[in-house]
Amino acid sequence: MKIAIPKEGHGETRVAASPEVVKKLVGLGFSVTVEKGAGATAAFTDDAFKDAGATIAKDAASALKTADIVLKIQGPTTSGAKSELGMMKKGAMLMASLGALSNKKDMEAIAKAGVTAFAMELMPRITRAQSMDILSSQSNLAGYKSVLDAANEYGSAFPMMMTAAGTIAPAKVFVMGVGVAGLQAIATAKRLGAIVTATDVRPATKEQVESLGGKFLEVDAEMEKDAQTAGGYAKEMPPEYFEKQKQVVSEHIKKQDIVITTALIPGRPAPVLVTEDMVKSMKAGAVIVDLAVEAGGNCPLSELGKVVQKHGVKIVGHENVPGRLAEDASALFAKNLFNFLSPHVDSETKAFNINWEDETITGTCVTRDGKIVHPRLTEQQAEKKTPAKTTDIAEEDTASKGE
Ligand code: NAI
Repeated sequence: MKIAIPKEGHGETRVAASPEVVKKLVGLGFSVTVEKGAGATAAFTDDAFKDAGATIAKDAASALKTADIVLKIQGPTTSGAKSELGMMKKGAMLMASLGALSNKKDMEAIAKAGVTAFAMELMPRITRAQSMDILSSQSNLAGYKSVLDAANEYGSAFPMMMTAAGTIAPAKVFVMGVGVAGLQAIATAKRLGAIVTATDVRPATKEQVESLGGKFLEVDAEMEKDAQTAGGYAKEMPPEYFEKQKQVVSEHIKKQDIVITTALIPGRPAPVLVTEDMVKSMKAGAVIVDLAVEAGGNCPLSELGKVVQKHGVKIVGHENVPGRLAEDASALFAKNLFNFLSPHVDSETKAFNINWEDETITGTCVTRDGKIVHPRLTEQQAEKKTPAKTTDIAEEDTASKGE
């Protein structure tokens, strides 16, 4: 079986394989082709891939046309004469971060091309799938980098410094949203010597914040009791909660030097947590890093792909933050893909036979046999036909995710 790893386009710095993972795939019996220069922006040279056992293809077409499995970071281009999808053979399998729930048209094109696609971002949050979870591996790096980006824009130091010329007070860092990215942001800011506070709608996060040495800012314990789906994600909160949150956060945010926002609701726009009035109330020189900017932003003033200054506050809205640590992000993404693939390889015969009943497969498979097959997408289709019915995607997580 042949696996192809093409070079990513559109400014994506990551690549879906590392030399280490190529070696492991070859060891499992796959033949691996990497497009020339695919790892250049992630510090993986063609020679390193070759040494690991890959063949180097001169362009995307020669990598893709005979591939049985295609590993990518972003979904393939689906239109135009040189579309990646057009280069793939019917029956090929594609594993990537497809943004399937918000890219219906592309999923239809992939189905029509007869490609079987797995949307890695839909991986069920079960213990066994932790090592396959791209959201987790990439968010962790994004959380770390968000603090470094904040430190870079901030005109003062993070740690307290007692010098002969005077004392520098430690920076006050406030992390909003304590999922994977938020926890890593707290840990990183603590390591840099900041005073860290954090908030989240999920009550389980209080203990996690405290275990990292941060202080938890509680909004409303009663309303938060029911804020988490069985899948571990946050639910969309009622307007009364946002009112209460606004009051609590408004008071706190005035005193902060750095605010890092990471709050997301799967399948929904990011909640607005830092309003323009809050930004106005912040100290001059304060920095906000909006990690949710790609999902609409937790701050309405953040701009995708830009660092802007509004009301004396710098607001950082970098796109693709994991891609700013391309080597580690690629290596972990590649391992996630390997961990997803490898359970379906027979250790003796080395045959690759997908177990279609496996929860990690049913949870991620979006197209098969020319059709869209993922329930969350087919339900979206049904919903369109009967617009009266509204479906809470966050709620659906409880049904589709085990723990
Ligand atoms: P996420 O990226 O969807 O959201 C980030 C954070 O924002 C979450 O903690 C969420 O509760 C919070 N949030 C949402 N709305 C908010 C609001 N209005 N105000 C304040 N905070 C708000 O979540 P992420 O990082 O992907 O992880 C969520 C949970 O899933 C974590 O508990 C994590 O440990 C768990 N997880 C489990 C895995 C597994 O078992 N395989 C793998 C990865 C994560």
